[in-house]
Amino acid sequence: MSERPKLRLVVLISGSGSNLQAIIDACREGRIDAEVAAVISNRPDAFGLERARRAGIPAEVVDHTAFAEREGFERELMAHIDRYAPDLVVLAGFMRILTEEFVAHYKGRMLNIHPSLLPRFQGLHTHRRALEAGHTHHGASVHFVTEELDGGPVVLQAEVPVLPGDDEQTLAARVLEQEHRIYPTVIQWFAEGRLRFDPEKGVLLDGDLLTESVRWPA
Ligand code: GAR
Repeated sequence: MSERPKLRLVVLISGSGSNLQAIIDACREGRIDAEVAAVISNRPDAFGLERARRAGIPAEVVDHTAFAEREGFERELMAHIDRYAPDLVVLAGFMRILTEEFVAHYKGRMLNIHPSLLPRFQGLHTHRRALEAGHTHHGASVHFVTEELDGGPVVLQAEVPVLPGDDEQTLAARVLEQEHRIYPTVIQWFAEGRLRFDPEKGVLLDGDLLTESVRWPA
């Protein structure tokens, strides 16, 4: 048993929460030395809230539609997050654009997963865009969150082939399977103290500056 206290995670979601489930399972099975302290959704109907409740994890909603301004929503969201004193904030299909203030507050302790091989296809509809571009490969990226939307330093990527006959759904499912592998892996690197973000230098993995992202299998 390690002496280190478990890393506290707050996971933000907007939808199905399959990445959340992968993280919950990895924590329970001891593949991540962390605990999910809370799950917060901006949508009351997100299925991920149900996954959290089934796992006995506090599940909260901060509904963005109840706020006239993004800033008001984020202030409330921050208050909810900080009540759980997380070591790491995990964006898992959280579909809100974040202000600089919010990002600065969690700098170096907020990760996101994005369904593309960044810097390709920042933003939405990544699978459709990969198909339309005729790419033979696609994938997913885990990155630290910075002020630039989907632009923070990438830590780990997984690549999948685009197969003949693929549509958005089949490609998304293939990518999602890899997301469920790479997200717990990166969180565990952070939990072990192997991974950190130095605002001056950049991403450090095992003390070395990460000049390009690691490719799965890591
Ligand atoms: C995932 O594919 C994730 O990469 C993507 O939303 C999906 C959420 O699925 N995130 C983004 O597009 C963020 N820009 P999940 O709710 O089943 O984890």
